[in-house]
Amino acid sequence: NGNYTVTMIPGDGIGPEIAESVKSIFKAAKAPIDWEEVDVTPVLVNGKTAIPQDAIDSIKKNTVALKGPLATPIGKGHVSLNLTLRRTFSLFANVRPCVSIKGYKTAYDNVNTVLIRENTEGEYSGIEHEIVDGVVQSIKLITYEASERVARYAFHYAQENGRGEVTAVHKAPIMKMSDGMFLTACRAVAKEYPKVKYTEDLLDRVCLRIATDPSPFAERVMVMPNLYGDILSDLSAGLIGGLGLTPSGNIGKDASIFEAVHGSAPDIAGKGLANPTALLLSSLMMLRHMNLHSHADTIEKAALSTIAEGKHITRDLGGKAGTKEYTDAILARI
Ligand code: IPM
Ligand code: MN
Repeated sequence: NGNYTVTMIPGDGIGPEIAESVKSIFKAAKAPIDWEEVDVTPVLVNGKTAIPQDAIDSIKKNTVALKGPLATPIGKGHVSLNLTLRRTFSLFANVRPCVSIKGYKTAYDNVNTVLIRENTEGEYSGIEHEIVDGVVQSIKLITYEASERVARYAFHYAQENGRGEVTAVHKAPIMKMSDGMFLTACRAVAKEYPKVKYTEDLLDRVCLRIATDPSPFAERVMVMPNLYGDILSDLSAGLIGGLGLTPSGNIGKDASIFEAVHGSAPDIAGKGLANPTALLLSSLMMLRHMNLHSHADTIEKAALSTIAEGKHITRDLGGKAGTKEYTDAILARI
């Protein structure tokens, strides 16, 4: 039928409700997507968390997936499934934009940041040991290859999206070798993109500056090691109203997974109250990644104008609507 097939991982808690909302909006907008829904309830293989083979095969085949929140089971042997997915498919760049949403007032109305986080190593390498009683080591693993790969993606992204500057965010005066090498890789890649300005800034300084005035960050792309990106992306999300309003995309060579970064909100799960905006905005990143720009634009306009109008917004945004009323309001604008 000429449609693309995309793997859908609805996820836990509010996941199925927000996934349903996105599916109905895609249908109304005639987005040429067939969903292949998979269950990623973890299986334990040799005492380690593993993703069911069906889900892996589906993502491999379709190369694009949309993912709701996954709760991490607590207990020995369990690794976050979110991380397992990123690792399984070598999703090396995690793209996290934060754009002010008209109709949801925060301290700033001009936030427009893009943060690209190295997504496969750093402090997330999972290499830890207790050397002797009372002394532990957690390894921050940085490779030139992964640093160069994410830097190249950041410059490519900047060029494609009309952002004139890439800023590498680091703490090299302290993490001399690891962040030092990350910067060396960024500088080398910067030479391949003479039209994009390249700058470097310290992580703590960026936190201070971006919380004080986010406007200087609107024209650029920030790129950084994994944990810095995890933290700074939440700080940035806070500037526009939180993780319920921010999309993200995990980009790899052979597959990409677009996901809502917020939690599974078990307290409101199944009650029809969840705000599907983060998953919806992630799905728009996905459509643009697939070059389906006009469908993305249509849906984006409908969603953002619904929020701006403010009559049918969910409780987390100060409204009274449930998931269905909000979704219906978007549908009415498509
Ligand atoms: C995120 C999340 C994950 C992370 C958690 C759920 C493992 O906070 O996507 O930012 O730390 O990367
Ligand atoms: Mn995080």
